[in-house]
Amino acid sequence: MQVLVIGSTRGTGRLLVDRLVADGHDVRAMIRDPEQADDRRAAGAAAVAGDLEGDLEDAMRGVDAIAFCAGSGSSTGPDATLRVDLLGAIRTIDLAVELGIGRYVMLSSMAADDPLRGSAAIRPYLAAKHAADRILLASGLDATIVRPGGLTHDDPTGRVEVGVPRLERRGSIPRADVAAVMARCLADSASIGASFELLSGDTPIDEAVAGLGD
Ligand SMILES: NC(=O)c1ccc[n+]([C@@H]2O[C@H](COP(=O)([O-])OP(=O)(O)OC[C@H]3O[C@@H](n4cnc5c(N)ncnc54)[C@H](OP(=O)(O)O)[C@@H]3O)[C@@H](O)[C@H]2O)c1
Repeated sequence: MQVLVIGSTRGTGRLLVDRLVADGHDVRAMIRDPEQADDRRAAGAAAVAGDLEGDLEDAMRGVDAIAFCAGSGSSTGPDATLRVDLLGAIRTIDLAVELGIGRYVMLSSMAADDPLRGSAAIRPYLAAKHAADRILLASGLDATIVRPGGLTHDDPTGRVEVGVPRLERRGSIPRADVAAVMARCLADSASIGASFELLSGDTPIDEAVAGLGD
């Protein structure tokens, strides 16, 4: 499967590129800065130029699936949240429909189902994620929405807890485990149509993702 990873250079998306390449997928890594190309090629991906606030179509055309891992970051302010997390995400969804890309796995956030669950400071971000998720679910694409708790740089455990649609506790999860869950979702159609919260837990990732179809 040819997968475009949006947000491929850092954090979860960077780890997802590694995981998808290891799983034998044909991976396109979207980059904003041409100087990032060699690094992404060294990871085994094809580097393609694209920007959520600029041209996207060339990067997206021809792929089988989109994995959205981009984010404006917590220190960039509400305008960047609107431009990247909301409007940028919506543009990728609209283009995926237009270009006939069937599969879309979205990295969202815990509490995006109900932004008022979050603190006042984080509600604008959660509202952006909420709206993008709703638009994705209504798009007709084969969508999966992954909503992790706080992301860490810890080593992966390979074990998670999923809550459909939500978990009753807060917590964290290593980015590497989130990447592994997203890769598994791309490989397992049981996750199509699912929106779920995700934390570190006791269930092996393959089993947790397969259970989304129950
Ligand atoms: N931090 C948390 O605890 C947490 C919890 C739940 C969910 N999330 C969500 O998880 C996702 C990944 O977070 P992360 O911390 O692992 O990643 P990250 O380190 O914040 O990396 C963000 C990625 O997005 C890319 N990006 C930013 N603006 C872009 C634009 N205009 N066009 C294209 N790409 C752009 C960056 O590329 P450049 O190299 O070009 O900047 C980078 O690859 C985000 O959606 C975040 O909202 C985070």
